[in-house]
Amino acid sequence: MGEEIRVHDIALTSGETIPAAFIRPENEQPGITTVHGETLEVPTIDFSDDNEEKLVREVAKAARDWGMFQVVNHGIPDEVISRLQGVGKEFFELPRAEKETYAKEPGSKSLEGYGTKLQKEMEGKQGWVDHLFHKIWPPPAINYKFWPQNPPSYREANKEYAKHLHGVVDKLFKSLSLGVGLKDDEFKEAAGGDELVYLLKINYYPPCPRPDLALGVVPHTDMCALTILVSNLVKGLQAFKDGHWYDVNYIPNALVIHIGDQIEIISNGKYKSVLHRSTVQKEKARMSWPVFLEPPPDFVVGPHPALVDEENPPKFNTKKYSDYVYCKLNKIPL
Ligand code: SIN
Ligand code: FE2
Repeated sequence: MGEEIRVHDIALTSGETIPAAFIRPENEQPGITTVHGETLEVPTIDFSDDNEEKLVREVAKAARDWGMFQVVNHGIPDEVISRLQGVGKEFFELPRAEKETYAKEPGSKSLEGYGTKLQKEMEGKQGWVDHLFHKIWPPPAINYKFWPQNPPSYREANKEYAKHLHGVVDKLFKSLSLGVGLKDDEFKEAAGGDELVYLLKINYYPPCPRPDLALGVVPHTDMCALTILVSNLVKGLQAFKDGHWYDVNYIPNALVIHIGDQIEIISNGKYKSVLHRSTVQKEKARMSWPVFLEPPPDFVVGPHPALVDEENPPKFNTKKYSDYVYCKLNKIPL
């Protein structure tokens, strides 16, 4: 523990340049590959609209055409989001040694804890980001060992955020279900039902002297069912649309929703998981708080039987979520 090099420390000591391990190949460098001067207006959906049919249509369309959308008037009070962000920021600003007491155990299979390198990243290159992972729901799945005790209000703020997410989660699953002609709860049941795990990740992207050459998180689709994300006031999320990388428009306190691989699978390809990445900034630290809604590890996920017939054969294999994750991380065919 404590021996790994954190990007936070590299950022503090690098001058005008960055170590070679962070320089992406040209086909990934954001300076070259971003469509500049244009942000992507991903669909914005108003959850306070009580026209349910319209809501279902909008969610389904966004999930089909984009795999990504933003939700406004979601019912989570702004203060709940700012407290989540405030305590997360305080944690990442603690002295190194204190953060390291939450470090992921070397060799541990679990993602939980403070860490730097998430997976075998492409071509041995690293992302300009440190992170903290811990589950926030359901209570029996929570491992408080990975919940910072400092600042003292960290736990309360995270519990409060988890509690407020349930309404949004249910509404998302319900709309996705109705959007393909299934009953209210069928999508959620197919993704784990009440055992659905909420895994929080905090990304901390320190200021970077060469934001044109480095990436925060490399291009990927999320493995989970759905991701619900908030970020601080610094831009950096990019989505791949029509063959190009665009900055996603930023709406303060909106929830950014990503359709993950498991929803694409359950829907038998009607909904698409979104290819996205994140960039970093020269002067400012960026932070984001995705919550991954995941099936429990042993839960079996596959195309929903009601969406498969002779004309629509299954497009994906059915497998345990833990096997899916293992195959994807190790680049074994899915
Ligand atoms: C991610 O998709 O893993 C990061 C997205 C973000 O930081 O906005
Ligand atoms: Fe992601």
